[in-house]
Amino acid sequence: MNADPAVDVAAERAQTLGVRNAHHLNAAGSALPTIAVVDEVVAHLRREEHEGGYEAAAAVAGRIEELYAAAARAVGAAAAEIALTDSATTGLRVIVDALRPDSSARLLVSRSTYVSHALHLLSVARDTGAELVVLPNGPDGGVDLERLERMLTGGPRDIVCVAHVPTSSGLVEPVRAIGELTRRSGATYLLDATQSVGQLRVDVGEIGCDALVTTGRKFLRAPRGTGFAYVRRTLLERLAPVAPDVRGAVWTGSRAWTLSPTARRFETWESSVAGRLGLLVALTQLLDRGIAATEVYLAATAARLRAGLAAIPGVTVRDPAACASGIVTFTVDGFGAEAVSLRLAARGVRTVSVPASHGQWDLGARGVPAVVRASVHVYNDDDDIDALLGAVGEIARGAAA
Ligand SMILES: Cc1ncc(COP(=O)(O)O)c(C=O)c1O
Repeated sequence: MNADPAVDVAAERAQTLGVRNAHHLNAAGSALPTIAVVDEVVAHLRREEHEGGYEAAAAVAGRIEELYAAAARAVGAAAAEIALTDSATTGLRVIVDALRPDSSARLLVSRSTYVSHALHLLSVARDTGAELVVLPNGPDGGVDLERLERMLTGGPRDIVCVAHVPTSSGLVEPVRAIGELTRRSGATYLLDATQSVGQLRVDVGEIGCDALVTTGRKFLRAPRGTGFAYVRRTLLERLAPVAPDVRGAVWTGSRAWTLSPTARRFETWESSVAGRLGLLVALTQLLDRGIAATEVYLAATAARLRAGLAAIPGVTVRDPAACASGIVTFTVDGFGAEAVSLRLAARGVRTVSVPASHGQWDLGARGVPAVVRASVHVYNDDDDIDALLGAVGEIARGAAA
């Protein structure tokens, strides 16, 4: 089934111990890391044990510099435009707060917005009086571009926030077309690339976003508690973090401080150095494998899964038409999504259920209380797909009986 010979699925499986334990179809939750990623993390923890945390960090300072370069390469940015974070949520919060939206701001948000980002943007709107507009979708399920164009008033008071790929479906938003519109109107464009970096080609120059956030543990296959953000140089020079930290600022006098000239001004001192070294290994492995090959393989594997699910009586695929990602969502008649996911786990197939409370502007608005989400990666093979289809078929037949 290998849709692109450049992805060597057998080799990926050989370096992924987790594939031996279950059919893991939850990359969109937290993907299986490679042996090399875990070895790197453990080795650094051992180094901290023997040398002390600060001494161990000093010894790998050069590797952390390499991480900025690798993250920048992965998204087409410059190393100075990268800030390391512990999650995508932290990245977006720090950037949104630094924009200091006031009552003149308009927050134009996609229906694909992730719960934690939505809750932050809603509370910013409530506290500042900024207007929050949930963007309408077009017939393919992505942002309606014509209506977005009409809604942009011109200038940076419009802050457009879009998830490239949401948590709640296989949708891929038309991020480049949105970027053309925001560039033309002068709006500030924030891209949540949490579910896309590592599975789709993401180039901030081509997309035209002003900032991007992502996380390590999903399609990048890095350790938990890692992530990074990109802030366009011209934007970051104008943005000061609401809470400067010793990592990104120097306290120069009794009441004076200066900010780092780079995106590091948004960072905090404390971090898991071990986790960041793991992120570097994961990024290096992704860049070696090739994002184009990864994208083709994941899209083809997910498409096969969707087609197989759609053919099972009683199963409804819930992805919109514009679903080109490695995420597949579905429901089974007669069962709640959580019950399906638990039954699948009992059969050795790992998925999750995503409730409407994780995406009210998407699942909630569609009137779907929850979906089962299966998400594939390069270590998933025919056997994993067949296992999921077989198990879902059994569950669906059980409901019908
Ligand atoms: C689309 C999307 N954005 C953001 C996040 C949040 O990522 P993190 O938990 O790293 O903050 C998630 C997590 O599932 C997500 O699916």
